[in-house]
Amino acid sequence: MTTEDHLTFRQFMLREQDRVGTSSDLILLLEDIATACRVISHKIREGAFVGTLGATDDTNVQGETQKELDVIANDEFMRHCANSPRCAALVSEELDNVVWLKKEAKKGDYFIYFDPLDGSSNLELNISVGSIFSIVELQEDLTDLTDEAVLIAGTEQICAGYSLYGPSTSLVITTGHGVNGFTHQMGSGEFLLTFPDMTVPASTQEYAINASRQNFWDAATKRYVDECLAGKDGPRGKKFNMRWVASMVAEVHRILTRGGVFMYPMDSENASMGGRLRLLYEANPMGMIIEQAGGKASIGGSRILEVAPTDLHQRCGVILGSAEEVDLIDQYYSE
Ligand code: AHG
Ligand code: MN
Ligand code: MN
Repeated sequence: MTTEDHLTFRQFMLREQDRVGTSSDLILLLEDIATACRVISHKIREGAFVGTLGATDDTNVQGETQKELDVIANDEFMRHCANSPRCAALVSEELDNVVWLKKEAKKGDYFIYFDPLDGSSNLELNISVGSIFSIVELQEDLTDLTDEAVLIAGTEQICAGYSLYGPSTSLVITTGHGVNGFTHQMGSGEFLLTFPDMTVPASTQEYAINASRQNFWDAATKRYVDECLAGKDGPRGKKFNMRWVASMVAEVHRILTRGGVFMYPMDSENASMGGRLRLLYEANPMGMIIEQAGGKASIGGSRILEVAPTDLHQRCGVILGSAEEVDLIDQYYSE
């Protein structure tokens, strides 16, 4: 082990400040987000004892039933982010509208977008869930605090990350200078750097898609999956494995670890909503992380990060992972 191994999150961020000029305010905000993730992780682990794994009687703006822990995770995220003096607005999957924390937003302030608990249908099953977040920095002062003001393309993100609540709790972040993964250590209470410089291998033999939706798939998706299934004798000339956790954070973590491609395309059933996954707090942050790790992220024919948002809870197709596979799928979309 060298002194570079197992840096605490703070030590790592201070090293990044020296290396690439990460601002102190962003470091402090990320520490608050890391605290929120530690608390959420703890609350999930005690869920079976205190009866919070199940559903509430409420639905969110997406019309989805909220789990008790969706609400708890949302509250924790809001509480900890609101501490940052630079945080101007919060956008959450679980909230209908933007929460403004200031009377007027200044150049340099942050907008934070988050999915407090992704994959929450897995909670009772004790299968991995996660939190996803994205940070945008205001380029100019803002006096008109409307929902429209936070509709900013993913290319403007200065930071994205997720926490994965699995057998251990991970925190994976990018500030636009590569992707680094940390693991929560129980004894110290700290996130320690355990997966420096995470990369997505360019080629893969593994894909992830909810195959029960195949009757709704478009031609490009059908063709890609058929060719994977054809294996060694098919046009791809190799055998493919398939995985579906139904928890995007776990799928992205797998892809950052051993490569692969994750697909939740727009299909004939979800087309009226624009797809299944949400742009601002699911697709954009995961897109930035995957690109920063050397992979690609597409809505099916074009880059996720270049989509100009028109709605807070807008959805889109998501195809991300190993560059060769995403390029091939994009090519099928263009044909
Ligand atoms: P959320 O729990 O925030 O609503 O999102 C769950 C998402 C994502 O994690 C996963 O990839 C997908 O929904 C699972 O979809 P299926 O239920 O179609 O498998
Ligand atoms: Mn989600
Ligand atoms: Mn969610």
